[in-house]
Amino acid sequence: MEWYEVAFDTLYPILYEHRDIEESDAVAKAFGSLFLDKDPILDLACGNGRYLESISRRGHLIFGLDLSHYLLRACLDSWGHKGLIMQADMRRIPLLTGSVGAVINMFTSFGYFSRDTDNLLVSKEVFRVLRWGGIFLFDFINARKIASSLLEESQRESGSFIIKEKRRLENYGKYLVKDIQAINAQSGTKEQIEERLRLYTMDELIIMFESVGFKIDSVFGGYDLSPFVEGVSDRVIIVSAKK
Ligand SMILES: C[S@@+](CC[C@H](N)C(=O)[O-])C[C@H]1O[C@@H](n2cnc3c(N)ncnc32)[C@H](O)[C@@H]1O
Repeated sequence: MEWYEVAFDTLYPILYEHRDIEESDAVAKAFGSLFLDKDPILDLACGNGRYLESISRRGHLIFGLDLSHYLLRACLDSWGHKGLIMQADMRRIPLLTGSVGAVINMFTSFGYFSRDTDNLLVSKEVFRVLRWGGIFLFDFINARKIASSLLEESQRESGSFIIKEKRRLENYGKYLVKDIQAINAQSGTKEQIEERLRLYTMDELIIMFESVGFKIDSVFGGYDLSPFVEGVSDRVIIVSAKK
């Protein structure tokens, strides 16, 4: 099995408990003007549906797509959205060409495939399902910042778990590999997962998106709409349009 078929399961809410509805509400508000007249919207790799919930609270029709049965189930249990979420692979979006007005891809939900052609295929699929004038909101980590200040090992607590994380760069900095161990402090049981991310830089992302036809509209460095500064910003947030 591929790492992304395993990693986004019961451990996810423990590892990323800080990625919550408060954060998605704030981001949806900050970027809210992008979605005017864009319904329906697709949340590509929607996970537990926090962005689905935040954006639909703002009055939009939004669908979600994700591979993880566990996280889609969590979405249904937490927020509902029955009939608006689908289990699929982001390389083959089961929607008609030109059928949505906006696609969002939030919190580093890209670069999961070991072949660049597969990651490129995702951008092509996003472009395909958008109608003319549609927009793509894309949120990734700042690869150069991560690579230049790599924290090789860390340990933290989350609920009753102790989380140990080891990070390394592979293939001359093209991939960030994280080995994560979660130890249940009460029972002593251990679970281990791996995450492998293709560390696309801002320049590489822009070249890729332009190559499939997108026009880049703006690049931000954080959820507060701060400008992107290479090596400094935490995020690379690219807004592009099909026009
Ligand atoms: C880091 S999480 C982000 C989830 C959500 N965007 C958020 O902000 O909470 C990445 C998501 O990508 C999904 N994913 C991983 N591989 C996928 C694939 N091949 N196709 C569709 N979704 C995938 C995972 O199941 C997970 O929900």
